Amino acid sequence: MKITADITKNQNIGRKEYNMANEKLHICNHPLVQHKVSLLRDKNTGAKEFRELVSEISMLMCYEATRDLPLKKVQIQTPIAIAESNVISGRKLAFVPILRAGLGMVDGAMALVPAAKVGHIGIYRDKANSNSAAEYYCKLPFDINERDVIITDIMLATGVSAIHAIKKIKETGAHSIKFMCIVAAPEGVEALHNAFPDVEIYCGALDDGLNEDLYITPGVGDAGDRLFGTK
Ligand code: URA
Repeated sequence: MKITADITKNQNIGRKEYNMANEKLHICNHPLVQHKVSLLRDKNTGAKEFRELVSEISMLMCYEATRDLPLKKVQIQTPIAIAESNVISGRKLAFVPILRAGLGMVDGAMALVPAAKVGHIGIYRDKANSNSAAEYYCKLPFDINERDVIITDIMLATGVSAIHAIKKIKETGAHSIKFMCIVAAPEGVEALHNAFPDVEIYCGALDDGLNEDLYITPGVGDAGDRLFGTK
């Protein structure tokens, strides 16, 4: 199994119950991301700082998630000479946050790719049936099928919402879809891989697993509440 350079080798890869050593899983091991994820986890981090950290981490992770954008050569007249220089070529990007926590990741990502369009998808997990998701809102760019799509959510827990969002976006004809989260649980990674083996997952940390309430442990708690100060 190939392990890409982005995969942190010391983050419990190879747990017995889940095979996390998948080339489609990228754990961003950059020290700035790791440091900021630690600050995010701290229960004493308030909503303002939490929002700022989510935005900063998202910007750094977007840098990794866009590493494979194709380039083309152009000629640029500098004040001195003509430079053969690179610009991004080809398809454009769309970010699709899963409401509500995924919203917090959009500003940071947009700071790097201001021309991207943003779709929104609102999904909640059915409390009576943890395996099913209910969609309450969906507004996607009209040309999303011509764009490379990066779905954002702070937590990849069971994977139910992520799988629903990917399915919905694939139905539009979009075929380049990545999923970017800050903290992932092995259960969610495995579910997403099984449902959509082609979708690359970018995360800042791979945690131990889910507790009985389906929260990621150790995790960050309820990301939406911490982001918006609702608890
Ligand atoms: N959603 C959250 O906000 N936190 C978790 O731990 C899992 C899902």
